[in-house]
Amino acid sequence: MKIKLLNKNLSKIDANVTIKFIDKDDLKSHKKYKLLNLAGFTAEQDSVCFLHEKATLFCGLESKKSDDVRTACVSALKALKASNYASAKLNIIDKNSLTAIVEGFVLASYEFNDYKSKPKASNLKDIFLAINNLDYKDIKKTFDDALTVANATCFTRDIVNTAPQELNPQTLAKLAKKLAKDNSLDCNILQEDDLEKENMGSMLAVGRASVHGSALIHLSYKPKNPKKVISLIGKGLTYDSGGLSLKPATSMVTMKMDKAGACAVLGMIKAVSELKLDIEVHAFIGAVENMIGGNAYKPDDVLVSRSGTTIEVRNTDAEGRLVLADVLTYAQDKVKADRIFDFATLTGACMVALGQYTTGLMGHSHKLKHDLSRAATASGELTGSLPFNKHLKKLLKSEIADISNVASKPYGGAITAGMFLDNFIKKENKNKWLHFDIAGSAYTESPWDCNVYGGTGAGVRLISHYLKTL
Ligand code: BES
Ligand code: ZN
Ligand code: ZN
Repeated sequence: MKIKLLNKNLSKIDANVTIKFIDKDDLKSHKKYKLLNLAGFTAEQDSVCFLHEKATLFCGLESKKSDDVRTACVSALKALKASNYASAKLNIIDKNSLTAIVEGFVLASYEFNDYKSKPKASNLKDIFLAINNLDYKDIKKTFDDALTVANATCFTRDIVNTAPQELNPQTLAKLAKKLAKDNSLDCNILQEDDLEKENMGSMLAVGRASVHGSALIHLSYKPKNPKKVISLIGKGLTYDSGGLSLKPATSMVTMKMDKAGACAVLGMIKAVSELKLDIEVHAFIGAVENMIGGNAYKPDDVLVSRSGTTIEVRNTDAEGRLVLADVLTYAQDKVKADRIFDFATLTGACMVALGQYTTGLMGHSHKLKHDLSRAATASGELTGSLPFNKHLKKLLKSEIADISNVASKPYGGAITAGMFLDNFIKKENKNKWLHFDIAGSAYTESPWDCNVYGGTGAGVRLISHYLKTL
């Protein structure tokens, strides 16, 4: 399906169906909606009513807020897909809701069919947006930017959805190289021998039992006179079996998504480079596979991280933080950034705390958390702040090393994981750093909002919006 902005009024556009947004007041006050009333349509938000004889799809819309417009478009898209029409047209409501319209249609029509021998073909080919008496030039940029971010979100989803037999640390590195080439980014890939030279003992331990070598991927987008420098760090566990602290069979399914932080960071740098923002962006990815075997790292091992901090391994399934410890240190050593954001499917506990739809936001700076939480709301993503405290920090104490990789008590598991990472943030960077736990928000097995089965691309819209408005 393609979405196109046309410099025409609605009546001048040739399409099979017209989409009309309607609220409860419209419905009451117009005699012309008699048929809708007869059909029992009440214009509830996200409800639809197809009047085929009028070639019109009515969509309930409670307000012109982006969240409502986006989900109304999702409902419209579902109704269109269930019918046989090839094209539909609608008026963009106003400039403010244009992004929500683009995201609603593009993200809800996303399908991942790489492994289907006979993918279901949809008849819907085109959605035409009419400019509704607005200035075409003025809104064209909003449209193009929205499409760029939506496409980057789908790019992230594609990588998350790719099966682990195909997507391992080495193929992820190859994919990153291709993105760098396509988008003129700098690219540096560190293989295991490089990682050894860089003293990344914590990250290397996690990937030791895998037949695929671990890799640290560093991409950078460097415009001429950048206003700010941002480092984005992604957890790239292409598979998390749990290691010797093996996951139960049912929990292991979906663990191809443990690379979603890395995929999000790739989507973000793709978006930023295509939006041509004047912000320097560095993407650092720890690409590792957590497996079992005779050479696997073990509970009781003590690892020496790049920073010199020693880590007692008490659970090999708390591997993401071990990888991030070294990648965060490396990123801070290599780039002096104004902001350091990491994205990771880090803990099941984050889902317990906030639910499946919300990204956990952690860090020291209240101002930064506030800014990012506002950017999330504006971008259509959900975040919830999880507060650090000194009592939880004590739970990470180890008797034999500097720190343990799991807390001694299970409660507040998302926060103790965040506080583990904090041990690897340098003093001067404490207020520049935020940790995003996307364990729940990055992947779904049932559709919600504009997300369909599989990877959601969580983080891409949020960071694209934040950087655009920085
Ligand atoms: N990748 C998982 C976290 C996860 C769980 C992501 C479910 C998405 C859905 C992570 O590596 C993990 O296994 N964490 C453990 C930590 C525990 C051992 C302290 C967890 O959450 O159980
Ligand atoms: Zn794990
Ligand atoms: Zn993991």
